[in-house]
Amino acid sequence: MYVCLCKGISDKTIEAAIKQGADFRCLREQLGVGSDCGQCAPSAKAMVKIHKAPQAA
Ligand code: FES
Repeated sequence: MYVCLCKGISDKTIEAAIKQGADFRCLREQLGVGSDCGQCAPSAKAMVKIHKAPQAA
């Protein structure tokens, strides 16, 4: 499923980046997530929160 339609970034791509340590800023800088219309930013931020949570505990 696409999270970022502007850049054509899927949830799998974002998950893989987060698992390699990316935060939202990294996603934005490296993949372009949220750098165009910004509509995907809340979803991408939520994904970072969800996927980071188990590692932070
Ligand atoms: S949908 Fe991601 S920047 Fe527009």
